[in-house]
Amino acid sequence: MAYLIFLGPPGAGKGTYAQRVHEILHIPHVSTGDIFRDIAKKEDELSKRIREIMERGELVPDELVNEVVKRRLSEKDCENGFILDGYPRTVNQAIFLDEYLSTVGKRLTAAILFDVPEDVVVQRLTSRRVCPKCGRIYNLVSLPPQRDELCDDCGVKLIQRDDDKEETVRHRYRVYLEKTKPVIDYYSKNNVLHVVDGTIGIENVVSKVLEIVRRGKNDTCEE
Ligand code: AP5
Ligand code: MG
Repeated sequence: MAYLIFLGPPGAGKGTYAQRVHEILHIPHVSTGDIFRDIAKKEDELSKRIREIMERGELVPDELVNEVVKRRLSEKDCENGFILDGYPRTVNQAIFLDEYLSTVGKRLTAAILFDVPEDVVVQRLTSRRVCPKCGRIYNLVSLPPQRDELCDDCGVKLIQRDDDKEETVRHRYRVYLEKTKPVIDYYSKNNVLHVVDGTIGIENVVSKVLEIVRRGKNDTCEE
């Protein structure tokens, strides 16, 4: 059992590490970004509003995000653990999550911050590609697909995210500093924060995460 939060700026690698940790620990990867990108594909009013917010690199309103996350975490596959990627992103969301977890008798194992500077973020996101079918994340520089720009698993042509233009990436980074940095202080005060250097290789980062999870589980057992 591991209840994990992955924190960090856009492009820190949250989704990449979550996909790997999901394969290893078999706990669901819950990405609010992926959930909202799915909703944004539809044509109703709410979907259109979300699409516009995401394209600008702003945050979706807390109330809506909290409701979506609560619904997802209530599903059976999240009973014995989850990896929250991209949530919480505001202190309001963090408080909501704490209240939700305490009502269902669960406790966070760790909130892990992947520390990456802005210039690395911009470089990574302008060369990121994703599979529109399975969501697998690639990078033309650091993690290229085996052939052309096709997904290794699906053979589908990879795409660039609408919010990965340099200008939008820099705006998303500013939103992160303003709205999400306080969430880091919040988890630090609650003694669940772990900081991992996100500029080392992907597999090295994943090893550090697994070590934190092992230690977190031991801490829980000793109590
Ligand atoms: P979201 O999808 O969560 O985007 P984000 O937080 O900006 O993060 P990214 O997905 O861009 O980056 P990542 O950290 O996952 O990095 P990745 O693994 O892809 O949110 C999108 C939008 O949805 C928000 O702007 C907002 O509008 C809305 N939203 C979502 N959640 C919300 C919430 N809670 N509240 C309100 N609104 C919300 O890696 C990036 C690249 O780097 C890849 O190419 C990868 O291959 C490469 N890479 C990764 N690690 C390494 C490494 N160690 N070395 C070299 N390359 C690496
Ligand atoms: Mg992501």
